[in-house]
This record gives sequence, structure tokens and C-alpha cells, in this order.
Amino acid sequence: MTKPAVTEQAINCLLVDDEAQLRDALRRVLEAAGYDVLVAASGVEALQILEEIQVPLVISDIRMPEMDGLTLLRRIREQWPEVAVVMVTGVTEVDVAVACLKLGALDYILKPFQIEEVGARAEQALDKRRLLLDNRLYQEHLADLVDQQARRIEELFLEGVQTLVEALEAKDAYTRGHSSRVAVYSSAIAKNLGMREKDIRLIELGSELHDVGKIGVREAVLQKPGKLEPHEYQHLMEHTVIGARILDPLLKNAPEVISIVRSHHERLDGAGLPDGLSGDTVPIHTRIVIVADSFDAMTSVRPYRPAMDAPEAIAELQRCSGTQFDPEVVIAFLHAFPDELTLPISTPRKVGGTVPEGVATGEWPTYSA
Ligand SMILES: [Fe+2]
Repeated sequence: MTKPAVTEQAINCLLVDDEAQLRDALRRVLEAAGYDVLVAASGVEALQILEEIQVPLVISDIRMPEMDGLTLLRRIREQWPEVAVVMVTGVTEVDVAVACLKLGALDYILKPFQIEEVGARAEQALDKRRLLLDNRLYQEHLADLVDQQARRIEELFLEGVQTLVEALEAKDAYTRGHSSRVAVYSSAIAKNLGMREKDIRLIELGSELHDVGKIGVREAVLQKPGKLEPHEYQHLMEHTVIGARILDPLLKNAPEVISIVRSHHERLDGAGLPDGLSGDTVPIHTRIVIVADSFDAMTSVRPYRPAMDAPEAIAELQRCSGTQFDPEVVIAFLHAFPDELTLPISTPRKVGGTVPEGVATGEWPTYSA
């Protein structure tokens, strides 16, 4: 006698037939083959059982009053696609049985049936079902894996861009460490303003990347010791647009970062570059970086001028508060760094860092408060 492949426990099998005699005969055969058999005298009763009990295999007659086997098959396929269905049919109804296969039945048993055949067909149907389920699981797993890989590639690319900024700055003694110091200032301001962890991470990333577009600026302009001619200044300022263009395809889930890169030379009064945006049309993330960037630029030596000391730079922030800078951000900066003696900060050791989880995926972790 054929036994089902899975033997840890008897497998549920639902037998649907309106003829009691045939039903009993089939039941005995299946029970002898190791199945735990449930019976239903109609399609409606079968659906009720399926609502309540998980059944991997349904063996159903085709000709039944009330609801025929074909309708039952359709309903099962719609609601429980993982259930294997085998139809029982008379020799004269082979075309109907074939129609059942097209609708998703896994097999059919011809009446009058051979005892051995019933068990073998049931087992085959369960095997096919197992393969189908395994295949579906595999496909889902594969899709997940491809997704994960795609995200990892994006993350790696972003980390590469961060390294690029680091390398770009390292070439020039005047800008070395600038972006990572801007990240520290910006992060402290954002915390002082009570911003969410997610926004703080975006601001840090934006700060680290804000000058990446300088890769597209001519060396002669970047390194010019004297004052820039108007056309040279215009070329230098293109770094905002170039940077945004580089990062745009990578940071679809983080428009705040793109805004920081594109708009960190905008001014509150609308007299900035590249878009002349004013007031809160520039997101708060960017308004924060504008203050941090300016403070670090003022307190750094440049080829054409010495560095300002912290009190001078702070006075400048206050003088331009309300025209160039968002007053609330300037106040938050002063609260975040109440002791002028700690300013300017020294360059943090690690420039750049890992890309915050969520930037590539768009699915942000839940941060603790
Ligand atoms: Fe810049």
C-alpha cells in the first residue's frame, strides 16, 4: 500500500462526494494509505471545512448537486491556492477532467478506480504541491536577496561618494576636514532644535556630502590664491548643482540631503545661489547646514584671508541673522556651543561614515528617543 511521503503525522485530506457509498470506499482506501480523512457531502460543506481546518489535499467528485466539482475547484484556487486538488471523474467525462487540470487541479482519478492508484495519485499531487510551494518560497527569497543586494550596492556607492569628498578635501590644506566639521556643527544645532533622530542623520549625511560637486570645478578656480573674478565665482558656485546631479539618482529616498547639497549657498532673503530661494522654501535641514558651513568657512584659513576667531565669526552670524541666516538656527547654534573657548571645534577623526540605514532603502528604523 502506498504511504504518503510525509509521515510525522497523518496528512489531512478532504474527500468531497455526494454519494455516501463511493465516499466511504475512497475514505477506507485513503485511510489505509495513512491519511487522516475528512469528508464532505457537498461543495458547500467542503468550503466550510476549509475555512476552519488547514487541508493540503482535496479529492473531489465532479458531478454533484448544489455546487459541482468545477465550481468548488475554482473557489479553492481563489481562496486557498496552496491546496492540492484532485478530481474524481467517470471515464466518459475525461474532457471535463482535462478542463479541471486547466483550472488548476493537479490530477484526476478515473472511476472505477484501482485501490493502489488512489494512494499513488494522492501522493503525487502532494509532491507536486510541495514542489510548487518550495518554488514559490525560493522565488520570494530570491526577490528579497536581489532587493537586499541592490540596496547594498546603493549604500556602497554612497560610501564611495563620502570617501571621494574626503579625498577631495584632503588634497587641499585649506578645506581639509571641512565637511566633517560642518557635520558636527549641524548635528549639534539639529539636536538643540529637538529634531528627530532620522532628520539628524540626514543632516549629518548632507553635511558630509554638501561640497561633493567641487569635483566638477576647475582646479585653477578651487586653488586660486586671490579673489575670484565674477565668472570664476559663478563657476565655483556650480558645485551645488553638480553635487545634486551626482547624488540625485542615489538619494531618491532622501530629498532632504539633495536639498542640502543644492541649496547650501541660498540665503534667507532670497539673494543666494543657485535658485534664489527665500525663507522656509529652503527646508530646515538645509538652513541648519547653511549656518554650520558658513561658521566653519569663516573660522578656517583661506588662501586669500586668515581665519576669523570664534567671537568674530559668531558676531558675523548674528549680524547676518535674518538676512542670510535663519535667526532660530543662529540661536540654536549659540545654545549648542555656549562656550566660545571650545570653538572652532577640531576636526573629528572619522571623516564620513556609514550611510544611515533607510537612505538607500526608504525604510527607516525606529530610533529610540
Ligand atoms: Fe559649498
